[in-house]
Amino acid sequence: MNLKGRSLLTLKDFTFKDIEYLLDLAEDLKRKKRMGIRGELLKGKNIALIFEKPSTRTRCAFTIGCIDEGAHPEYLGKDDIQLGHKESIEDTARVLGRLFDGIQFRGFKQETVEKLAKYSGVPVWNGLTDLYHPTQVLADFLTIKEKFGHLKGIRFVYVGDGRNNMANSLMIGASKMGMDFSIAAPKNLWPKEELVLECKKFAEKSEAKITITEDVNSVVIGADVIYTDVWCSMGEEEKAKERIKLLKPYQVNTSLMKKTEKNTTIFMHCLPAVKGNEVTEEVFESDASVVFDEAENRMHTIKAVMVATLS
Ligand code: CP
Ligand code: NVA
Repeated sequence: MNLKGRSLLTLKDFTFKDIEYLLDLAEDLKRKKRMGIRGELLKGKNIALIFEKPSTRTRCAFTIGCIDEGAHPEYLGKDDIQLGHKESIEDTARVLGRLFDGIQFRGFKQETVEKLAKYSGVPVWNGLTDLYHPTQVLADFLTIKEKFGHLKGIRFVYVGDGRNNMANSLMIGASKMGMDFSIAAPKNLWPKEELVLECKKFAEKSEAKITITEDVNSVVIGADVIYTDVWCSMGEEEKAKERIKLLKPYQVNTSLMKKTEKNTTIFMHCLPAVKGNEVTEEVFESDASVVFDEAENRMHTIKAVMVATLS
């Protein structure tokens, strides 16, 4: 498998085999890290980390991923550079492309990360935009593989805001990997029809199933994974009141977890979580919760993405 020179803007551009390769590589790198072996797979590389929005996990995962393998990470916060304000994205991209070997971007518009990739000439990795969060999905899939041994056929139910970056990206990833994927959300928070159709096309090839429904109580029966995310993503804070009202019936609580009728169901969340909204403290702290495995796996999978696309 050769992913050298590739950008990761959305998982739409990655095949079943590409994703499998990245997960296998992440598993290897995780094993190596656990054994205390520090590598040089990114030796001499300089990596720009552009953040328009705040981050704990993504920032730290990229930073540690770089340092573990000998690269130099450079954090560029929203007030540090002129991106899109005093300098066009195209110009900043061309400058950074001359200086850095790879660029991570977290921010608002998907268009920005796409422009960075087009004009910088180096691999660009999407660390979250309003539309997608592909590196999170890799961490989530590695976590599922660790818990169940496989991805194909896993009954995965995403509950809550069904049209945010996580719902979109999980649906894309699941449709590539042959999973039985459902979104339970109120109708006006369903993903765009166009994206659902695109994912259904991927699903034809992988034998995945895609279901979008309002009926959360029925769809969770038999679920292996119940996943949720915040009800207001970064930049949508003013919608809080309206979302709480709309999404209250979609809270992941102990009663919903019991409706899976399985005692092996795991609870997942990309974090940060607003406990009391999308998930109760009880579920978050329960034995079913694997949220901190996911958080750790951000680092191993992001490291794998950098290693695969740079070396
Ligand atoms: N899950 C995630 O992306 O976390 P951060 O916002 O802390 O990076
Ligand atoms: N949907 C959330 C994900 C955070 C990792 C947001 O965009 O804020």
